[in-house]
Amino acid sequence: MSHIFLIGFMGAGKSTVGPHLSRLLGRPFVDLDDIIAAQQQRSIAQIFEDDGEDAFRGLETAALETLAEAAPSIVACGGGIVVSQASRARMRELGTVVYLRTTVAETFARISDRTSRPLLAGEDAAETAAALLGERSELYERTADLDIDTVGRKPADIARDIADRLVAECLIESRNLTVHVSVPGAEYDVMLGRGLLERVGELIAEVSSARRIALITDHTVGDLYGLTVEAKLVTAGFDVHPLSVAPGEGSKTWEVAGEVLEAVAELGLDRTDLIVALGGGVIGDLAGFIAATYLRGIDFVQLPTTLLAQVDSSVGGKTGVDLRAGKNLAGAFKQPVRVIADTMTLRTLTEDDWASGLAEIAKSAAIDGEAFMSWMEEHAEALRKRDADLAIEAISRSIAFKAQVVSADEREAGLRECLNYGHTFGHALEKVAGFGVYPHGIAVAEGMRFAIRLAVDAGSASRDLVMRQDQLLDRLGLTAIREPRNPAELLGAMKSDKKARAGAVRFVLISEPGVWECSAVEEDLVGDHLAAWSASKRGN
Ligand SMILES: NC(=O)c1ccc[n+]([C@@H]2O[C@H](COP(=O)([O-])OP(=O)(O)OC[C@H]3O[C@@H](n4cnc5c(N)ncnc54)[C@H](O)[C@@H]3O)[C@@H](O)[C@H]2O)c1
Repeated sequence: MSHIFLIGFMGAGKSTVGPHLSRLLGRPFVDLDDIIAAQQQRSIAQIFEDDGEDAFRGLETAALETLAEAAPSIVACGGGIVVSQASRARMRELGTVVYLRTTVAETFARISDRTSRPLLAGEDAAETAAALLGERSELYERTADLDIDTVGRKPADIARDIADRLVAECLIESRNLTVHVSVPGAEYDVMLGRGLLERVGELIAEVSSARRIALITDHTVGDLYGLTVEAKLVTAGFDVHPLSVAPGEGSKTWEVAGEVLEAVAELGLDRTDLIVALGGGVIGDLAGFIAATYLRGIDFVQLPTTLLAQVDSSVGGKTGVDLRAGKNLAGAFKQPVRVIADTMTLRTLTEDDWASGLAEIAKSAAIDGEAFMSWMEEHAEALRKRDADLAIEAISRSIAFKAQVVSADEREAGLRECLNYGHTFGHALEKVAGFGVYPHGIAVAEGMRFAIRLAVDAGSASRDLVMRQDQLLDRLGLTAIREPRNPAELLGAMKSDKKARAGAVRFVLISEPGVWECSAVEEDLVGDHLAAWSASKRGN
């Protein structure tokens, strides 16, 4: 069994980095202290108080033993585990050991409630902690295969660094590009790789015991990949019924959803059967909505074939259709049981649809933070030219980011709002121009340009950040659109957007990469910016 053990001093981030790494590598996360507390039916503090440290170290070694037969996992260990020679040896036998290096100052900064850590509570806490860290440092270093500096870094960035170095130093065979999503009531894997459609039958059979499958696609994707997918599903023993709609946003309607629902009902699918969505975001949203409503909900699998769908729409469970009044106004949360993203399908995308996906990646980068944003800046031209390895890297970063956000806030009660960056204006533009005139991502990129200018006046973004984002979008091939639109119509569309509250228009405003707020912006100010935006297009 090859586990990944996270060791290090208090506050090094073992239990916060662990879940991020778990999603990146598609392995479960366990906390060794939780195993011990469950086995002993006592808290760790109680065990220390009742039985003393030596006894606890013995329990740690015994808990490691229970992992010997477990599936490869990410294991957060207690800060003192390295004191025991037996535990050090067992960790090295059972997997790879990663040392999260920190300092006493960082530990104090990260642990706000020090009363829960007796060691850090006393007056001479800093000296005690420094002495203890001094004693243990050498043991951490000697035990670890990888030494990772965590000072001043975010858990998600540290996890990414660990994943990269595990691959680079051949400590895990190759990057396992399965990202795990966990929301209340649903757990699923997002699988990413080249040629996955070749294995689609077995990969779906792993998560579904359906007899019949309604394979929903659009005519373009159906012509390109429908037969392959159908053949693989039939070989795996499924009874497959392809249903195809016209390509594009025009199919994401109540009427088309009704027609497809009627077709599914005619096929007689029952609750144990499965919907499979093969296509871009339109097909994913439409088929997901059908899976959410047919028989009050049956399982569905996403096979995303656009860059946008692979990095964004296939993950997170938002499904729905557009109404005449606006985008995505009818829908349901419905998580897929698996997402299988074959990057080979991206080779047939048009330039516009490639750029559209890059826009959603740029959005994720701006919201995620400096590390992802700088990485995009470093590789913008290569991504525009579809460098295959960098594209996989960008997709996996975006999926991990989205998985992290939706795992924390499935229903958009707070954090998930960040994913709407660029969407208030973007959705209004799509509606006013007519759905389907601009690829969704192109409208979002224009929305990001609008939102960041607004953030200079309504928030605290700097002019430098405006330039920086403009340059990144330009270099990705997302040049600003040229046509003006009527400001009053755009404002009206924003006010009927589902993110508006009591008629007040809300925007995600960033002040620097990774720092954002979602707030209502005064209508007059929005109006001024809309007028300026439209005038700048007239000058083109
Ligand atoms: N549910 C969510 O969380 C979420 C998030 C972002 C966007 N969305 C939605 O996603 C939709 C946009 O998705 P999209 O841009 O993928 O649109 P899309 O599904 O319309 O695909 C764009 C075009 O690409 C074609 N296509 C798809 N895969 C192809 C391939 N491999 N090769 C060649 N052509 C291919 C399609 O036929 C279509 O013409 C919007 O409706 C948007 O609202 C949803």
